[in-house]
Amino acid sequence: MPDIVSLLKEKRTFQPSADFTSSANWNKKTTAEYRRLAARNPNRFWAKMAKENVSWFTPWKKVLDWKPPFAKWFVGGKLNISYNCLDRHLEGPNAWRRNKAAIIWEGEPGDSRVITYGELHREVCRFANVLKERGIKKGDRVALYMPMVPELAIAILACTRIGAVHSVVFGGFSAEALRERINDAGAKLVVTADGGYRRGEPNALKPAVDAALRRTPSVENVIVVKRTGEPTRMKKKRDHWWHELMEGASSRCAPAKLDSEHPLFILYTSGTTGKPKGILHTTGGYLTHVTTTSKVLFDLKDTDTYWCTADIGWITGHSYVVYGILANGATTLMYEGVPTHPGPDRFWDIIERWGVTIFYTAPTAIRTFVRLGDEHPKKHDLSSLRLLGTVGEPINPEAWMWYHRVIGGKRCPIVDTWWQTETGGIMITPLPASMPTKPGSATLPFPGIEAAIYDNDGREASASDGGFLVVRKPWPGMLRGIWGDPKRFVETYWSRYKNTYFTGDGAHRDSDGYFWIMGRVDDVMNISGHRIGTMEVESALVSHNKVAESAVVGRPDDLTGTAIVAFVTPKAGAKVSGAFAAQLRDHVAKQIGPIAKPKDIRFTDALPKTRSGKIMRRLLRDIASGKENIGDTTTLEDYSVIAALRSDDDS
Ligand code: WTA
Repeated sequence: MPDIVSLLKEKRTFQPSADFTSSANWNKKTTAEYRRLAARNPNRFWAKMAKENVSWFTPWKKVLDWKPPFAKWFVGGKLNISYNCLDRHLEGPNAWRRNKAAIIWEGEPGDSRVITYGELHREVCRFANVLKERGIKKGDRVALYMPMVPELAIAILACTRIGAVHSVVFGGFSAEALRERINDAGAKLVVTADGGYRRGEPNALKPAVDAALRRTPSVENVIVVKRTGEPTRMKKKRDHWWHELMEGASSRCAPAKLDSEHPLFILYTSGTTGKPKGILHTTGGYLTHVTTTSKVLFDLKDTDTYWCTADIGWITGHSYVVYGILANGATTLMYEGVPTHPGPDRFWDIIERWGVTIFYTAPTAIRTFVRLGDEHPKKHDLSSLRLLGTVGEPINPEAWMWYHRVIGGKRCPIVDTWWQTETGGIMITPLPASMPTKPGSATLPFPGIEAAIYDNDGREASASDGGFLVVRKPWPGMLRGIWGDPKRFVETYWSRYKNTYFTGDGAHRDSDGYFWIMGRVDDVMNISGHRIGTMEVESALVSHNKVAESAVVGRPDDLTGTAIVAFVTPKAGAKVSGAFAAQLRDHVAKQIGPIAKPKDIRFTDALPKTRSGKIMRRLLRDIASGKENIGDTTTLEDYSVIAALRSDDDS
């Protein structure tokens, strides 16, 4: 891992200002106390957090029931997440929040809506009643395939109000990907929209739902939000307009008293096989984890306007656009469109106009802004900002420095937060008021999280070597399983090391104990912070009738972190051309979604394989990243000769 060496040369450290520290939710003293408590007794620490930050209808009897790898948190406790995100801000000492903005939403064309806590409560109750009227009951699955509009947050909260399980499918996924996810979860109802705006144009969504629903036997109803007003085909009996159903719905709906371990949502993510995994999260532990981390490391206050740029279709949007932020009674900003429309300064314009105080985005976006030039943020007054965050990929120190200097005006702490769809909430992160940060390091595990780095044999790796990032103890927000596939759950996460969670990431610690995340060590690529499995792209490619075989690898890319390179062996008679490559890229977009389109397609008569027939991925990775120069692709066959001479475990 040569990257480790260069990262470890990073010696710059940044201290939080006295100003920030003196008013922080957790100052140095509290942090030290909690760290001590969590180190001594993590369960007691989490129980304290669950009591302080979450409202329960019935207290739990047992903090943790751990039968590896199956955990139950706050056993016997009853609660409702929509109650925690809404009702409790309308009563008692917080009743003044009734007319505070819960969601500030800005559409790409420039339209906006401000939804108060009182209003959001009413809308959520009404939509919960709509779901009930359509026959949705506790435990039923509801698929949400939507643009970034407030109705997505409303639908999510309405599901949790009645104990339905939501499965949000990112609006950029294809009809085929949607169909696969609907069927895997057995969703009874789909909520969608006519479309949303992207790059100044209406982008239709409903046609993809229509295509997906040709083969989804479980779906009974589709509810469609009118966003763009474009002509939209509605199927009689099955399809209903959101606004029509909402018209007659009552704005009263008592929150269901749900068991702490009641399923909350399924979110699909890529793994090392062609089939995405339905990651299952449950209620009490998840809410404790995301509410506590939001309060502490974003330092959320009632005066904040918080903006996380992630789409709700990803875990970051679930945990830190909706749940963790609303549970704290804070104002969350949602933006519908792309960062560069109508101009390269859209984000900075939004920050200035709404007075955003906390800004959480992805390294790939930061790298794009660096490239676009300082003049765009410099046109805007960004002095409202007081805290910055990043998530999704390792951030290179130079991008971190730019973020610190140009966006943060050198006064804002940066929280580089490491976590995953599976972890539910943030795991490794600076606590902004109480410790120095280093550009490129996610620093230390959150209190109560026992992260470590192991070598192949399950021993703690030495500082100079690095190794595999693992978590040794259960934590409240952890995944409870893979929907419908307990075997894969055990195999993927719990079989490499005994009773220890395997993250799939490589990492390294420095002499201060700070963690430096090096990226995936499995066949999962991280493209602009989005996980795509190499196998998924391969299956998509070989589903094309002119493709015999394919191997997909990632190569480093300045902008997207990793770029997808596909080696393709066409079937006999297929004519290799630029047009064929373009056709294949479109085919992948159709099968999975545009984010999975290979940047590079290289045709070859044969793929290099070992004697036992395994594709030599390492060799392909080296070729793709230019470390091994092969000139023209046809000579790949020569490599298969070389490959045959190499040992079988060389792939
Ligand atoms: C990567 C996103 C370095 C990592 C929340 C992980 C990161 C995968 C960071 C999970 C970070 C996330 N530094 N790498 N701060 N945050 N990653 O499931 O490889 O979409 O395994 O969850 O993103 O991606 P996921």
